[in-house]
Amino acid sequence: MKCVSASQTVSHSRTEQVHIVMPGDCNQYFRLFGGQLVQWIDTVAAVAARRHSGCAVTTASIDKLDFIASASLNDLVVLQGRVIFAGRTSMVAAVDTFVEDKQCQKRRLVNRATLTLVALGADNRPAEVPRLVPETPEETADLEKGKALYEARKAARKEATRTST
Ligand SMILES: CC(C)(COP(=O)(O)OP(=O)(O)OC[C@H]1O[C@@H](n2cnc3c(N)ncnc32)[C@H](O)[C@@H]1OP(=O)(O)O)[C@@H](O)C(=O)NCCC(=O)NCCS
Repeated sequence: MKCVSASQTVSHSRTEQVHIVMPGDCNQYFRLFGGQLVQWIDTVAAVAARRHSGCAVTTASIDKLDFIASASLNDLVVLQGRVIFAGRTSMVAAVDTFVEDKQCQKRRLVNRATLTLVALGADNRPAEVPRLVPETPEETADLEKGKALYEARKAARKEATRTST
C-alpha cells in the first residue's frame, strides 16, 4: 500500500508545539519531568511524520535523546520537529526543544531527539511513504545523518535476528 504523494519537502512536515510548564509537568524540584518531555517529543515527531506521509503512523524507535539542559516551572517550552529522512515505509524525525526567554524571546536548546516512525495503511500494515526532497544544504546534511541512522538500525536488527536464531 502507498501513501498519497510521490515526494514531499522537509518544510511540508515542519511542526511546532509550545507549552507553558505547569506544576503537574514537574518533579519536586520544579523541574520538567524527562518523561513528560518525551511524550511531547513523541507527539511532535508523529505530527511531522503524518504530515510527510499523509498516513497514520506509529513510533518504531526513539533513537537518540540528549537532555542538554533542564526546563523549569512556568518556562515556555518550544518543540520543533521535521522529517529528515524517508525510507520505504519508515521516516526519521528530528525534534529540537528550546526554552524561550520570557522577555527577549531568545531560545535556548534543551533537548535534541531523533525518532523512527512507520506509516500505516488502512490495513494497519507498513505503507510506502513519499520520497524526501531536501531544499537546503542543512536539510541535505540532515538527510545523510538520518540515512546513516536508518542503515545502522536496520543492520543492528538484522544482527539481533541472526544471533537469536
Ligand atoms: C513498527 C512496526 C509497524 C514495524 O512492523 P514490521 O512488520 O516489523 O515491518 P517491517 O519489518 O516491514 O518494517 C517496516 C519499516 O519499519 C522499520 N522498522 C521496523 N522496526 C523498527 C525499529 N525497531 N526501529 C526502527 N525502524 C524499524 C523497517 O526498517 C522498515 O523501514 P523501511 O520500510 O523504510 O525500510 C511494528 O514493529 C510495530 O507495530 N511495532 C509497535 C509500534 C508501537 O506500538 N509503537 C508505540 C509504542 S507505545
